[in-house]
Amino acid sequence: MQIIKTIQWKDDKVIMIDQRRLPLQEIYNAYEDYKGVADAIKHMVIRGAPAIGVAAAMGVALGSLGIGVKTFDEFYKRILRICETLEATRPTAVNLAWATNRMKAVCLLHKDLPIEQLKQRLKEEAMQIQREDIDSCKKIGGFGHVFLENGDSVLTHCNAGSLATAGAGTALGVLYAASAEGKVLTVYADETRPLLQGARLTAWELQKHGMNVTVITDNMAGALMKDGLIKKVIVGADRIAANGDIANKIGTYTVAVLASRHKIPFYVAAPTSTIDLTKKNGSEIPIEERDSKEVTHVLQHQITPDYVNIRNPSFDVTPAELVTAIITEKGVAEPPFEKNLKILAG
Ligand code: MRU
Repeated sequence: MQIIKTIQWKDDKVIMIDQRRLPLQEIYNAYEDYKGVADAIKHMVIRGAPAIGVAAAMGVALGSLGIGVKTFDEFYKRILRICETLEATRPTAVNLAWATNRMKAVCLLHKDLPIEQLKQRLKEEAMQIQREDIDSCKKIGGFGHVFLENGDSVLTHCNAGSLATAGAGTALGVLYAASAEGKVLTVYADETRPLLQGARLTAWELQKHGMNVTVITDNMAGALMKDGLIKKVIVGADRIAANGDIANKIGTYTVAVLASRHKIPFYVAAPTSTIDLTKKNGSEIPIEERDSKEVTHVLQHQITPDYVNIRNPSFDVTPAELVTAIITEKGVAEPPFEKNLKILAG
């Protein structure tokens, strides 16, 4: 039940719905070169860990089309530069570098092919990454919906849905799968300051999928939990360390602490491409610090006094001890995460 086309490859162009303009305008941008794709990732035309992985892969494929050299070595040097540009856009979601690494590996594997055929292979790999993501979302939904019961009310933070993936979504994919099984859910969406992915994007896509959604501001979750209005929490992830620590949108940690205080299960849904076994724990995950204007302004309107100090970390780390289970396309990891994540992703 995929009704939102977040990213597509069409006639050697990359087409993305411009998420900065949602929910008020549904505008699709077309990108003809990799620099445009890198810019779109950096400025959040497209966002969400799996979606930016797909965008980066398509960016490399697009970039390769513009390379006019004759030898593999020259070609590969240019590919590495393209990957560097794309990798520098956003540091926290590991899916981005995971995707560019796959594109580099395709080059090395087919280094003996004529350059034009190699470009074709890169295009096919980008499409394959997109197809795999669609499939992962389906499987995550399949493994995850069993944790939800008919009548549950579920809180989610940020947007981990169709708009954040090539498919139905990770956290929201689980909600869609439960709904397809006939379970009636009430979904609470944290607005997710500063960029309001919950209020703008999650609310929009849940409505589009016919789900019952209520938006709350980020500081309301605790009171709702105390009143018994939230039975489960489910979120996505940008990077999962080997010990199960989870980097996700800023505010996720707060929600996890509140869930623990109220004995509410806290689920994380993510493809195994989000698991980074090279990071021992969450303290090793790079956290993106974004422009202070995202905090000083709400939708172009200034809300703070001039020259006030601002912090704007875009992600936080939720310690593994606050996570009930991690739902992936290969199955569900429960504690001890160190051992069980290695089985799924090792
Ligand atoms: O800054 P964003 O909007 O890219 O952050 C997105 C999130 O934090 C999502 O929860 C995460 O990428 C998982 S998306 C399936």
